[in-house]
Amino acid sequence: MSTDTTSSSQLTENGKLRHLIRIAGLSRDFISRLLDKAESYQVPVGKPPARDTVLKGHTVANLFFEPSTRTRASFELAAKRLSADVLNLDVNMSSRIKGESLLDTIYTLQAMQCDIFVVRDASAGIPDFITTNVQPNVSVLNAGEADVSHPTQGLLDLLTIRQNKQALDGLVVTVVGDIAHSRVARSLSEGLGIMGNNELRLVAPKGLDPDPDLYPGAIIGNDIDKAIKGADVIMALRIQRERIKEKSSLMTNHEYLQKYGLTEARLDKAKPDAIVMHPGPMNRDVEIAGPVADGPRSVITQQVNNGLTVRMAVLAAVMEARTT
Ligand code: CP
Repeated sequence: MSTDTTSSSQLTENGKLRHLIRIAGLSRDFISRLLDKAESYQVPVGKPPARDTVLKGHTVANLFFEPSTRTRASFELAAKRLSADVLNLDVNMSSRIKGESLLDTIYTLQAMQCDIFVVRDASAGIPDFITTNVQPNVSVLNAGEADVSHPTQGLLDLLTIRQNKQALDGLVVTVVGDIAHSRVARSLSEGLGIMGNNELRLVAPKGLDPDPDLYPGAIIGNDIDKAIKGADVIMALRIQRERIKEKSSLMTNHEYLQKYGLTEARLDKAKPDAIVMHPGPMNRDVEIAGPVADGPRSVITQQVNNGLTVRMAVLAAVMEARTT
């Protein structure tokens, strides 16, 4: 059993998607095709959801070792709409509680012919580690890795921006919040860098600033009003309290809203057609004011919808790698 956790290739020799661990390393064309495929699964509101048989006879196992609503539910629905058998392991009722290792859990499910593992974990390196230990016919999809990577979130964010701005180039994108702990910001940054010449502005309260080495080319600061000025896209992020040991230094919710919250007054400084994004889960009236979250510039519901079809596209792409 290898314990190598170095980065493994996501692509097959033919350039097909075997695993999805990070957006970095994917080409602009490849991402564009994935987003096109996701759009092909979209149907008008009120119509039955798109279905396909591309995963028929295959099994998707969802292993979420951290809480999730959107990612877990949408991977489950995406797999079912593509006709897969779906296993949602209840981690708290699994034999991991009795001391079974992660890999032995994977081997157990692999022996039951699970083909695709969707994994969320609080530790960095876990998705890569699994890829180096599974059978050649098994794929791993990263559903959120510590503060490192959340590639399907990055893809759904790119799709949402593309749908609203008609391009993924020449944009000013401002991300506000706890950047230090944000895998969402990391994956969005990777994607924006690949897709075009975009200006990424990262704004965090002092103490939650990102490591600049992780964001080459980004403008990093603490002044939200300056960073919102002239922005095309503004994304608010929550404070990830579960990753912060010293909570006594955190602001109160009211203070945070005053100093870093996305309020209607602040939004007036953005471009008139700026869109407002949030990956969820949202803390209303903390990082985003309720009227902004529900307002005409908010595309938060669109992000959720895109999450489902992006995950269908990723699952379909992984199946293509198995058959070509
Ligand atoms: N954005 C996101 O990953 O949400 P969940 O934690 O609900 O999956």
